[in-house]
Amino acid sequence: MRPAVLVTRATFPDIADRLREHFDVSDNPADTVWSPAELIARLQGKRGVMSTGSERVDANLLDACPQLRAVCNVGVGYNNVDVAACTARGVLVTNTPDVLTETTADLGFALMMATARRLSESERFLRCGEWGKTGIHDQFVGGDVHGATLGILGMGRIGQAIARRGALGFGMRVVYHNRSQLALTLEAESRARWVDKATLLKESDHLVLVLPYAPASHHAIGAAELAQMKPTATLTNIARGGIVDDAALAAALRAGTIAAAGLDVYENEPKLNPALLDLPNIVLTPHIGSASVHTRRAMAALTVDNLIAALGQSPNAGRPPTPVNPEALRRQSA
Ligand code: 8YV
Repeated sequence: MRPAVLVTRATFPDIADRLREHFDVSDNPADTVWSPAELIARLQGKRGVMSTGSERVDANLLDACPQLRAVCNVGVGYNNVDVAACTARGVLVTNTPDVLTETTADLGFALMMATARRLSESERFLRCGEWGKTGIHDQFVGGDVHGATLGILGMGRIGQAIARRGALGFGMRVVYHNRSQLALTLEAESRARWVDKATLLKESDHLVLVLPYAPASHHAIGAAELAQMKPTATLTNIARGGIVDDAALAAALRAGTIAAAGLDVYENEPKLNPALLDLPNIVLTPHIGSASVHTRRAMAALTVDNLIAALGQSPNAGRPPTPVNPEALRRQSA
């Protein structure tokens, strides 16, 4: 009998067809958002799941779904999955690194530029029919991007790709902070210089957050950090909700502690702190970092490769291309 798998959100029809060549597939073409209880009910008897950041895979779910062997997440981040709980139960977790690096860096750069140059605010003005009613010579003046200091917190693959855009395309001076300094060759390729976090906050004209979410990065940017930034600075978060204290950010934007913010991710998304919605000096997007057709296809295809290999249906059986916890396989075979 072919293993049964669940696809939690809508995916490309040909990608679902490829899964059907290997598995009995239950999917969600209507893209309905399931409650945790409904997810558990739909996972009964399933050996694998193609999940997204919207689904929480925790010990409670794993205990309620003992047949589950593979959690293949569509996304490079996997803070929605309790990896330790999966490993302890021999459940393999995979993610989709690399294929989304450049697209996510594009979005980070675009959001930073839109924030610096006040695109959302000026578009709202235009759409409301305000243009022409008053002189706008000094309205919507923002900060320059070219030649400014770009700060990057979290210097993984996406951070490095943003650094290259800033340095090579816009003549920016790039500083970054990361737990560990990059190898000198990577620093040279990124044209970026390691600084401590206080220097990063003090010197950045445009600070972009690209670090993974972990308990240690919770509220890495809160009131104390915002107070160290320039009043003309912008903050862009394309990493994860929870890295920024959204209430503190809203207060800082209202008080003029920093000039503006661009957010793609939020604490408790898809719900937003209402204080953010009331502010003019903020650009908001609904977690679309990797959302180009090409990249979303590549992410889905890689997830299918992972699922097929994880559940032992290919010559790569047991060797998925991008495992998060390969040690879970040893538990499976023990
Ligand atoms: C989402 C992301 O996965 O890769 C990540 O970690 O945050 C995004 O690419 C994507 O938006 C689908 O949920």
